[in-house]
Amino acid sequence: GITRRYEFIIKKQNVTRLCHTKSMVTVNGKFPGPRIIAREGDRVLVKVVNLVSNNISIHWHGIRQLRSGWADGPAYVTQCPIQTNQSYVYNFTITGQRGTLFWHAHISWLRATVYGPLIILPKRNVPYPFPKPHKEVPMIFGEWFNADPEAVISQALQTGAGPNVSEAYTINGLPGPLYNCSASDTFKLKVKPGKTYLLRLINAALNDELFFSIANHSLTVVEADALYVKPFPTDILLIAPGQTTNVLLKTKADPPMTTYLMAARPYFTGQGTFDNTTMAGILEYVTARPRHSAMNSKNLTLLLPFLPPINATNVVANFSQKFRSLANAQYPANVPQTVEKRFFFTVGLGTSPCPKNQTCQGPNGTKFAASVNNVSFALPSTALLQSYFFRKSNGVFTNDFPTTPLIPFNYTGTPPNNTMVINGTKVVVLPFNTSVELVMQDASILGAESHPLHLHGFNFFVVGQGFGNFDPNKDPPKFNLVDPVERNTVAVPSGGWVAIRFLADNPGVWFMHCHFEVHISWGLRMAWIVLDGSLPSQKLPPPPSDLPKC
Ligand code: C2O
Repeated sequence: GITRRYEFIIKKQNVTRLCHTKSMVTVNGKFPGPRIIAREGDRVLVKVVNLVSNNISIHWHGIRQLRSGWADGPAYVTQCPIQTNQSYVYNFTITGQRGTLFWHAHISWLRATVYGPLIILPKRNVPYPFPKPHKEVPMIFGEWFNADPEAVISQALQTGAGPNVSEAYTINGLPGPLYNCSASDTFKLKVKPGKTYLLRLINAALNDELFFSIANHSLTVVEADALYVKPFPTDILLIAPGQTTNVLLKTKADPPMTTYLMAARPYFTGQGTFDNTTMAGILEYVTARPRHSAMNSKNLTLLLPFLPPINATNVVANFSQKFRSLANAQYPANVPQTVEKRFFFTVGLGTSPCPKNQTCQGPNGTKFAASVNNVSFALPSTALLQSYFFRKSNGVFTNDFPTTPLIPFNYTGTPPNNTMVINGTKVVVLPFNTSVELVMQDASILGAESHPLHLHGFNFFVVGQGFGNFDPNKDPPKFNLVDPVERNTVAVPSGGWVAIRFLADNPGVWFMHCHFEVHISWGLRMAWIVLDGSLPSQKLPPPPSDLPKC
């Protein structure tokens, strides 16, 4: 591989959408931020220079960071944030990965505006395991807030309320024609007839899983979270925040119209408010012969693709079950066949006491909280990885993360009287190369809700999922240990559970959290420490000299 160097200048930029101009935090003044393109085997150096008053850190979402955990990015987990007028060089080598990922800010809600695609091409002369596309197009979904997202979350945390929701969804930063004052900010995909396009879809939205479809066109899924899958056709996709999906779009040889709409809107089963607007973009055929254009405001809605109802959990379950690892000789699925450590985690929303002199808007005047096994994870004021590496864990974290729920109950039935979370910075410690099975159960305390769980530092196999309560006797015999999908973010189904397996072969401290930013803020997060192995190649090297200090 070669070395690719990037410079990310974090600076403010005025950006206008929906007739609303705001000064926002950007990388190099761009929104969305710049694309990183590298090949499998390359080393990537990104110098991040912070010229804003906010602290910042950047996460390379889905990059495994084998023995390079210092470059992973979550603030107060693997590094202290980069302070104003300071810089840090993220230095990592892309090993054994190719596909679509993305990068985003990993502190507070700054990723609302600080994100961009991260594309890993296969090694030179290694073809895709699907027909070579005519063109490749990154399409990154986001959320637009007219307000400053930092103000939105700090107000929510201060008042114990749910945060204000976004005003629009975007494709490559553009909300599209269904919003007021937005027609000129429409994503347009220009295509030729009879060709195959590779769409690299990324969900960088803060708080919403999204359905996506293109009117009158079918898509073929070929990859998820930068791992090849067995191709399957679909008209409608669901992408959770933190997930990426590569699809092939075969354009019509003789299209009856020149323009078609694509659209995305949320899947949501929780309680409370959410942004239920629809973003649209345009698929435009560029042909020699002039054709009838159907693109005027009168029949705009007629051309919208069909999207399922907002709460269509059955559609979501059917869709997620279609994913299978490619699992061929070249790209085998190395599913751990035996398990050394089993964990059962409840994930969901809960409550915490309302601080004095506040009025909180949670149930019975409590404050909203979220937890894993009833622990609401508190970020320390220094980074976990440093305190672990230099053996200064005292007062920073404890090793007593509960491996089973503190408050067992019928997770999909009536909530218990006590829904209070406990606050703490607790971690699970795993010896090097432990094979882990983790069952995550949606605990419907404030209503059943899907939670897209993201694990840093690993890909994992989704060996099983189901509705209701996980049954430790009846469910495991049905696990798929042959070709389960491998990914870095999986939705714990609304009112159900998911089981994953991974091999803890990457020493360091690894964050795991719901990729809904509001749930992270409420504490739906925890960390794993994977110890060094005995060989030099199994140890985490010391930090780079420019690692930021708190
Ligand atoms: Cu995409 Cu911890 O994040």
